[in-house]
Amino acid sequence: MNDASRSAHWETVYTTKGENEVSWFQENPAPSLELIELAPLTPESAIVDIGGGASRLVDSLLARGFCNVTVLDLSKAALGAAKARLGDRADHVRWVVADVTTWEPPQSYDLWHDRAAFHFLTDEAARSAYMDRLKQALKPRGHVIIGTFALDGPERCSGLPVTRHDAVSLAAALGGEFELIDSRPHAHVTPWGSTQQFQFSTFRRV
Ligand SMILES: C[S@@+](CC[C@H](N)C(=O)[O-])C[C@H]1O[C@@H](n2cnc3c(N)ncnc32)[C@H](O)[C@@H]1O
Repeated sequence: MNDASRSAHWETVYTTKGENEVSWFQENPAPSLELIELAPLTPESAIVDIGGGASRLVDSLLARGFCNVTVLDLSKAALGAAKARLGDRADHVRWVVADVTTWEPPQSYDLWHDRAAFHFLTDEAARSAYMDRLKQALKPRGHVIIGTFALDGPERCSGLPVTRHDAVSLAAALGGEFELIDSRPHAHVTPWGSTQQFQFSTFRRV
């Protein structure tokens, strides 16, 4: 899939489906929030949610007092849905429509969070480009939380193939300058009641 068709795919998803008509919908992003609470952050810490889509994570971060939050996604419609939900609170967030693999980060971040975007990068060159952007964007001692389908999770999502991961494959993709802090499974229940095995791994830049 080339860049244009990947963008078009996600734009179609978010313009034709409601928030809870997608398998990844989460009423409460508790697994991410639990891990974010483990990181030594302050309200001013810079947080970026990569492939944040229309996720409610941003709502929870604002409610917890974080005031330097960026949500990046390929889909303008996804970010539009999140902004519409937030109303005036959306003005306190930086919204970026971009492909993470080519994004030029305008600032550095204390926390890089990604739930279910990295696993769509099925070729080595794209994963490597993602990691280059991550290293460009993350502060020294910054934290990285990546949630993906686990090794026993689904092989496809939203009609697209995914690469499943564990802490070992993520550590290898990140390279030597990161240490693993935490890795845990998570069984996500889709809006129609099926279960998908995820893993969430947290790393710190050394
Ligand atoms: C399965 S959804 C997860 C959305 C959100 N993280 C959540 O938990 O609800 C994957 C998201 O990644 C975005 N995405 C996929 N590839 C991307 C890329 N290369 N750059 C930026 N966003 C991407 C999609 O537009 C979509 O919103």
